[in-house]
This record gives sequence, structure tokens and C-alpha cells, in this order.
Amino acid sequence: MASASCLSLLVLLALASSAAAQLSSTFYDTSCPNALSTIKSAVTSAVNNEPRMGASLLRMHFHDCFVDGCDASVLLNDTSTFTGEQGAIPNRNSLRGFTVIDNIKAQVEAVCNRTVSCADILAVAARDSVVALGGPSWTVLLGRRDSTTASKANAESDLPGPSFDLANLTQAFANKGLNLTDMVALSGGHTIGQAQCRFFRDHIYNDTNINSTFASSLQANCPRASGSGDSSLAPLDTASPTSFNNDYFSNLLSRKGLLHSDQELFNGGSADGTVRSFASSASAFSSAFAAAMVKMGNISPKTGSQGQIRLTCSKVNS
Ligand code: HEM
Repeated sequence: MASASCLSLLVLLALASSAAAQLSSTFYDTSCPNALSTIKSAVTSAVNNEPRMGASLLRMHFHDCFVDGCDASVLLNDTSTFTGEQGAIPNRNSLRGFTVIDNIKAQVEAVCNRTVSCADILAVAARDSVVALGGPSWTVLLGRRDSTTASKANAESDLPGPSFDLANLTQAFANKGLNLTDMVALSGGHTIGQAQCRFFRDHIYNDTNINSTFASSLQANCPRASGSGDSSLAPLDTASPTSFNNDYFSNLLSRKGLLHSDQELFNGGSADGTVRSFASSASAFSSAFAAAMVKMGNISPKTGSQGQIRLTCSKVNS
């Protein structure tokens, strides 16, 4: 009896790890040896052209992986059979970089026809974006296939929101197999990029755990009344918005988190220690971020005969 349950536990463990185990760093080595260099040069030129694009591409991969796994579902336009994720609250008038991804996909198709998935392009583009802005590198595991459907409802239920408290945030990441350290490290993605007033208005007017000089400076471009200045931008990392570094965590120590959810990570709770350690050690942050990105990239990949390799990232093959 004991050995039977032991065996079923082993089978369960093997099943649980098999999907991720099928991803491999060498997946395109024979089928498309130029895939990675093609993506890298396209990302580097897009980021040189507009540094914020690096942030936008990193966020795109996060918003892909948290909704039914890293399967490029986020890129699909609405169809008559499903309402896609682009119109979901966390993405609408917010997620950017679709044209850059379409352009990278076209370049990759020109070197290898119907071989490289849009989901893998997102994962590699996220890594190359971080590197282009001075952050750490890591080996991206490959072999994800693209979904044939997308879900607005799942985007709205599974992605964390800026009004979340620490418990909500922890739960949203735990639901995807990511622990507290992963969550704090990944939140360090907010060392780059911008947010719109409508997402930080409540924090700068209603919260008390915010540096008052910082709050006043933001209020100048983000009026209290909703409807005015809703899309005015402010950097998520006020100290160094286009450099991927650990300033995000030092900002939190000085109560200069832009979003309510950012400051929740350093507000007297269970994440305080991790925030302090990443603020005091850039290398501790870099290695935790890289490890957590690999973990996030392993969320429910479609492999083998699941899904498809889309020809155009915004639509299912006809
Ligand atoms: C912890 C929960 C998170 C919440 C509540 C959250 C929320 C947000 C919000 C509200 C914005 C601003 C969007 C806009 O104004 O249009 C934003 C931007 C951004 N987020 Fe997050 N985020 C979270 C985690 C992450 C993670 C895990 C990553 C990546 C690893 C990430 C990367 C980014 C980046 C790079 C931007 C800037 C995008 C740009 O400038 O285009 N975020 N996030």
C-alpha cells in the first residue's frame, strides 16, 4: 500500500514537471539557428529607438504567462468565437509593443518559415529587453507553442491589479506557482517603464505610506478628479526609469513606490526583508530576477502537438 502510493506520487511529480521539462535552451539550434540572433537585433534596435519599449516587451511576456500559460494568447485579436485579452482591464489602452512583436515575427519568418512560436519570441524579447537596458541575462528555455484561443475573462481574473494588497498579490503569484521571493524579484520589473495616472491616482492622494514630496510632485500631472489627466505618465522607478537596476527597491525603502501594489511590498509585512536585501545587493536582485523569469516562463507551456506555430501572431492559422 505504502509503495503503491509512493509510486503514484512519483507519477504525479513526473507529470507535473513534464511540460516544463520539454522546454529546452537548444530547441531551435537545428531547425532555426538564426532565431535568437534575429530576435536580439530586432529588440536592440527597437529599444535603442525608444527605451520604454524594453519595458513594454517585458510586461507583455508577464501578461502572456499569467493567462493560461506562456502561449502568446495575449497577442490574439478578438474573433467571432472568442473575446481576446487585449480588451481586458489590465491590458486595454495600456499594453504596448504589438507592432514590434509583429515586426520581429516577420523577420523570424523570413529566416525560418513556420518554425518559431510567438510565445517563444515573447520570452526571448523579454530577456533581450532587460539586457538592452543594462539588466541581467539568463538562458531562455524554448519550445513553447502558440494557443488557438484567448480569454478576456481569465486575463481579468488572473493578472494582479495596482490596488492589490500584499495578501492579494501573494495569492495571485502563488496561483501561478511563484513564491514570495519570486514575486518580489519579478516586481523589480518596475525598475523600468511608465504608468498612467489612472493607475496611481488613489495611491498619491489617499495612501499615507508615501513620501509627501514625492506625492506632491506626482499630483502636479495627475489631478485628483478622475477623467482629467488619466493617461499622464510617470516613471515606475523615479530614480532611473530607463536603466534596469535595483533602484526600485531603494525607492520602496524611501516610500517612493508609484503604485499602491508596489509600496505594499514594503509596508511592514512579510516581504520587507526581501525588499531590503534586493535594495542592498544588486547582484542578489539580478540572480533572483533571472531565476524567477525562468520560472515564470515555464508556466503551463504548450508543447509537442498542443497548439500551433502561428504564422501571424495576432491570429490563429487558417
Ligand atoms: C506585482 C503585481 C503587478 C502589478 C499590480 C502591476 C501593475 C502594473 C501597472 C498598473 C502598470 C502601468 C500600466 C499603464 O499605466 O498602462 C505596470 C507597468 C509595468 N509593469 Fe507591472 N505589475 C505587476 C507586476 C509586474 C511584473 C511581474 C512585471 C515583469 C516582470 C511587470 C512589468 C511592468 C513593466 C515593465 C511596466 C511598464 C510598461 C511600459 O512602460 O510600457 N509588472 N504594471
